[in-house]
Amino acid sequence: MAGTEKFLWGVASAAYQVEGGWQADGKGPSKWDIYTNRDHITVPTTGKHETGNVAINQYDRGQYLKDIALMRDLGVNAYRFSVSWPRVLPEGIGRSNRAGLDYYSRLVDDLLAAGIEPMVTLYHWDFPWALHEQGGFHNRAVIDWFRDYASLMFATLGDRVAKFITMNEPFIDLFLMDLIAENARNGRPPLAFSAEQYARQLPALHNLYVASAAAVDAFHESGRKGMIGIALPLGPAWPATAGDATCIAAARSWDHLFNRWALDAAVGGAYADDVVATLRRLAPDFSVSEEDRALLARGKVDFLGINFYAPSYCRPDAERPLGVDSGVNPDPVPAFNGPVRPEALRELLLRIRDEYGNRPVIITENGAGFGPRDEVMGEGVVHDPLRADYLRRHVAEVLRARRDGADVRGYMEWCLFDNFEWFRGYDTRFGMVYVDFDTQRRVAKDSFAAYRQIIAGAGV
Ligand code: BGC
Repeated sequence: MAGTEKFLWGVASAAYQVEGGWQADGKGPSKWDIYTNRDHITVPTTGKHETGNVAINQYDRGQYLKDIALMRDLGVNAYRFSVSWPRVLPEGIGRSNRAGLDYYSRLVDDLLAAGIEPMVTLYHWDFPWALHEQGGFHNRAVIDWFRDYASLMFATLGDRVAKFITMNEPFIDLFLMDLIAENARNGRPPLAFSAEQYARQLPALHNLYVASAAAVDAFHESGRKGMIGIALPLGPAWPATAGDATCIAAARSWDHLFNRWALDAAVGGAYADDVVATLRRLAPDFSVSEEDRALLARGKVDFLGINFYAPSYCRPDAERPLGVDSGVNPDPVPAFNGPVRPEALRELLLRIRDEYGNRPVIITENGAGFGPRDEVMGEGVVHDPLRADYLRRHVAEVLRARRDGADVRGYMEWCLFDNFEWFRGYDTRFGMVYVDFDTQRRVAKDSFAAYRQIIAGAGV
């Protein structure tokens, strides 16, 4: 068993963003194969038709072995990656694909041989298309589909993997990405979401939380050693104008929808009344069955994965669902994922300490991209001082929170390599290593050296 009590310093990735090999060796299609190849989801945002068909080629073992060598050079002792569900179960259920299972099994062995602990996310948005066509998360059967798939992966990798993560950022999957895909199909602006769209997604997100809980329960029932968690997108919701009563109310609503719903479900095992009241403003007949309540209560996570990028500055906006604009960004050089406020990460960690029983936490994603002015090609290195600064300041806040008693056990930077950034395509770079997508050449950035120094000097 690879799990130890040492602090985990790592990097994170997701199958669709890095693997490529979209039709290799019997893999089935995922909804992202369709969103990119059929719906051209990147076009409204980037003007280019881009896909994850090749990505950064990590389905190729020769390529990923070189990339693992870079991880060793960086000094990480953990790697969070995701399994492509339709690569191992081409139709999502039923017949499994030996080649897909072997790929992940070998990857785990290769990581362990390099002294790097594998952390496996079971679902990072590349939902099997065959099941999507049967309603996906809108179909209650997804609870069984996901539990069966999770059990297959526990049986395949559980003898060597000490930490599993059920789902990545459920809210972003269903309330952002699926809706952007729908808007692309219907010729609407990518981020113009209606109250009707939010209302429709709400029961699906509930089913997802229950499916995650069912997988947690199955893991515990299996009696395996190790821990299981979920990776939630979290961040303090702050009023856009301090002290303004309408902004404070908007921030509270956003906190319920974005943070507390997920935390209460996965960590607390039950929904709170005030959160349900906020959800009912979107979907008045939303209710939770006795059966689902029981599943949520049985499926509490062992650790909480936190994906943190930025806090949300909120203000009222009658045009948006729930009447909230949560995307205010006053920064002069805006980062792609929101205002740079490292102290918000510390605030969040102390909240988990105080309001969620100090459940063990792993930072499962944290990182930034600022666009071309922070991606300047030099002699054999790419200069990205803003990203390097972002990392130093965020890690410092994590270590401070840890000294204040927050039970933080690891930090996974997002991400090692530039890759396919969903509807924002390839020009939105987040990596500490630059990738030339035509040649697959890798060039380290300043932030790579910065992170190596952080790890070496952190004293944990
Ligand atoms: C996602 C990643 C994504 C990253 C940067 C997170 O929301 O989990 O897949 O690439 O943010 O935008």
